[in-house]
Amino acid sequence: MSEESNNYLNWSFQKIHKFRKTVLNWYDQEGRDLPWRKSKNPYHIWVSEIMLQQTQVNTVLPYYERFITELPTIEDLSVCPEEKLHQLWQGLGYYSRVRNMQSAAKQIMTDYDGIMPSNMKDLLSLKGIGPYTAAAIGSIAFGLVEPAIDGNLMRITARLFEVEEDISQAKNRIVFKEILDRLIDPERPGDFNQALMDIGATIMTPNNYRPENHILKDFDQSYQNHTSHLYPVKRKKTKQIEQGWLAFVIQNEKGEILMRQHQTGELLVGLWHYPLVAFDLLSLKEASEARDAFVYTYLKHDQLVAESLTDQFRQYFIPQIDNLKATVKHVFSHRIWQVMIVPVNLKDSGYQLLEQLHVTDTSFQWVAKDEIEQLALSSLQVKLFDLANKVIR
Ligand code: ADE
Repeated sequence: MSEESNNYLNWSFQKIHKFRKTVLNWYDQEGRDLPWRKSKNPYHIWVSEIMLQQTQVNTVLPYYERFITELPTIEDLSVCPEEKLHQLWQGLGYYSRVRNMQSAAKQIMTDYDGIMPSNMKDLLSLKGIGPYTAAAIGSIAFGLVEPAIDGNLMRITARLFEVEEDISQAKNRIVFKEILDRLIDPERPGDFNQALMDIGATIMTPNNYRPENHILKDFDQSYQNHTSHLYPVKRKKTKQIEQGWLAFVIQNEKGEILMRQHQTGELLVGLWHYPLVAFDLLSLKEASEARDAFVYTYLKHDQLVAESLTDQFRQYFIPQIDNLKATVKHVFSHRIWQVMIVPVNLKDSGYQLLEQLHVTDTSFQWVAKDEIEQLALSSLQVKLFDLANKVIR
């Protein structure tokens, strides 16, 4: 697949550079101090990666030390009696991991003179070494510029770029690889991979959607859009994710409506909508009546909503909450949006509003009501438009 086959990564080189620096600076200061990180010995790295495949770091630590002490070389592993191997692995589980490792050690003894191969093709030919492990060993021990794509890296990438592809489908790995191939630091690929593993294990964990100490905030599209809980996409057969949105129907004194064109990297890119702001639907369900629910949600998540609105937005919109009117339900393949219409009537032309909101691009436009239908609209926006016409005088 060519580099252009997905358009998730639209960062400038400077931004990519800054990202690498942020990741590596963090790693230099905060990265976990782990014994295999003190070694560049490919055999040590290999042992650690195999142990870490299905086992937590803390559990692995004593096993790793003992294994390396008892079997210090690939040759030692290749000739180790099965009983001893079993004993060294007992308690880690998935015994086939170490059996495969011994087969690979024998392969290395016969095919590679006992020296761990240092290119991806040969690493991948070894028993028990798949794309993740080959990339981890290759990058950490040999400096190969290969992203080690495990669950951590996929989760981080999916959140940074709001990647819609399902991480549980093997065919989608290429999407993550294409992005990470361009992000990975070519000078320190092993550290870059391990830094992301650590960020995934300690900060951007599966359930930590808005961590305060999120060092990649500025780069994280889902953090900025309050959609981190939607990523990574891991499609369940029956359950769709529900998400709440507010659609602001902002009308100026001339009767023009503020419209916004969705930008690259957003859903429904290129199409025009009323300005949409995400909010927490769960709180809505807890409340019995829609209007109360909205006020409740807004107040409860004031911080959350306020972060995506400027103070000026809040001054304009908070007094208008009473005008809340109606909701549209829109079903995508793997998510359901409940979109509430929030009418806002401005007493002036509204032209200063954009300045006040610091909107400098052309994504926002004032559009005469009868010209809205001439814009490229999503089917969701068509529904919102029809409903807004019914409920707003
Ligand atoms: N999990 C898998 N490989 C790892 C590594 N090198 N460091 C920390 N956690 C890991």
